[in-house]
Amino acid sequence: MGAGGAIGSRGLLPVLLLLVLLLGAAGPLLLQAEPAEPVSAERSLAWGPGLDAGIAVPVRYFYIQAVSAAGRNFSRSPPGRTQFKVVIKALSPKEVTRIYTPRPLDRNDGTFLMRYRMYGSVTKGLKIEIFYGDQHVAQSPYILKEPVYHEYCDCPEEDPEVWQDMMSCPSQEPQITEDFISFPTIDLQRMLKEMPAKFSQARGAIVHYTIRDNHIYRRSLGKYTDFKMFSDEMLLSLARKVRLPDVEFYLNVGDWPVEHRKANDTPGPLPVISWCGSLDSRDIVLPTYDVTHSTLETLRGVTNDLLSIQGNTGPFWENKTERALFRGRDSREERLHLVKLSKENPELLDAGITGYFFFREKEKELGKAQLMGFFDFFKYKYQVNIDGTVAAYRFPYLLLGDSLVLKQDSQYYEHFYIGLKPWKHYVPVKRNLEDLLEKIKWAKENDEEARKIAKEGQLMARELLQPHRFYCYYYKVLQKYAERQASKPEIRDGMELVPQPDDRDSVCSCHRKKPLREDL
Ligand SMILES: *[C@@H]1O[C@H](CO)[C@@H](O)[C@H](O)[C@H]1NC(C)=O
Ligand SMILES: *[C@@H]1O[C@H](CO)[C@@H](O)[C@H](O)[C@H]1NC(C)=O
Repeated sequence: MGAGGAIGSRGLLPVLLLLVLLLGAAGPLLLQAEPAEPVSAERSLAWGPGLDAGIAVPVRYFYIQAVSAAGRNFSRSPPGRTQFKVVIKALSPKEVTRIYTPRPLDRNDGTFLMRYRMYGSVTKGLKIEIFYGDQHVAQSPYILKEPVYHEYCDCPEEDPEVWQDMMSCPSQEPQITEDFISFPTIDLQRMLKEMPAKFSQARGAIVHYTIRDNHIYRRSLGKYTDFKMFSDEMLLSLARKVRLPDVEFYLNVGDWPVEHRKANDTPGPLPVISWCGSLDSRDIVLPTYDVTHSTLETLRGVTNDLLSIQGNTGPFWENKTERALFRGRDSREERLHLVKLSKENPELLDAGITGYFFFREKEKELGKAQLMGFFDFFKYKYQVNIDGTVAAYRFPYLLLGDSLVLKQDSQYYEHFYIGLKPWKHYVPVKRNLEDLLEKIKWAKENDEEARKIAKEGQLMARELLQPHRFYCYYYKVLQKYAERQASKPEIRDGMELVPQPDDRDSVCSCHRKKPLREDL
């Protein structure tokens, strides 16, 4: 027994209880601003890659943290109608360029996410002013004195080390390290002979790329390679930002990973690159076409992208519906099972199939649910993530909302799953869903813990899924691969150049390029 037992006075018990409650909550309370405190523009914080001239990404972005006069962070949107406001202009009045500057996204936790897309480059720099009311925030105005290039400006940094430093690329990506363990050297001749025969007939979704002198060439091996439009656009975008190594590789643009041979088999596995990995295959993974494309198209037609979702996470935790949600197509049998569970336990689960394709015969029995906007998912406190054909590519978006993600165990993974831990960032659910209802009940009964896991998952996803990190990731895969090539990459028969898109309407005078020989 502790001190409480020794004292044993009836009058003390409520005091002790109160103390325990206070101590439990003291940490965060002392550091967080009271909801009614005013915001201090000066003490508020602004940081992120969008305040740095060198980091060219399709949509540039930075973060704002609201802080009170006493130096305490807000953990909720600050009170009142005053808002953060951002004004971005070319530094030199002589330069005119279009910059799309929507309002900062309120992430509902005292932080804001500012996105802006430049439709032309500026050579003299940018002026970024951040206001709260009419007061400058933090070190505003931010003066970026160097050229700032827009997405379509073909202006690669010649030194990849400089570029990676500028981008703050992590020095290690654990998934890349793991993926290359099976491939100490890469025999391009063997791949040239075996790849078409082994992989192009069965599924026909292999695209053969060669990058030479920062130009991209490719040929399709098979009939189902339309999704090369996504890899093309990302490789071109990357080549506009950094000089790529000479490299020759095979990208599988189909759903499933394809190389199932083990490292010590004879012949051994080939290093095929895919968008989705699985525990029983050796494919090297890249960020999926889905997150890659939405990153490239943010503020240009897509709305479900990794930045915009952050300002659309629904009601506060306390006000979310205490049920688990699922909407999706019938691409896996467990999804149908989920709908049955939902019909039997509507108080715990709201699941529906929105389109039948694989199990059409089930539509009559299970019914068809209305489509639901993705942002509306976050009206629910719990989100069920069930594999589709392969990994469910909604997982990164679900993590970014502030709901608890219940994730079905799966052999499939995307490039960032390795950074996540069950029970820390999400709640694991058995593959056959037999413990799903139990897990939902657990979450309802342990609201504080559930909320904490949701928050940790969100914070980790915000860190791992920043658009500039995808560029780092793509680059690192190409670099690792290039280092291991046993011979020089060649432009092979049947390959064609993938041209950079035309961008004549915009200013793009690149100051990084070395003068061409012809110019001297
Ligand atoms: C306040 O917020 C900033 C940015 O979110 C963070 O880096 C800092 O550690 C926070 N400070 C406290 C005392 O929590
Ligand atoms: C929850 O909803 C109620 C009713 O709409 C509202 O008054 C309250 O402020 C909300 N709570 C939070 C934390 O947003």
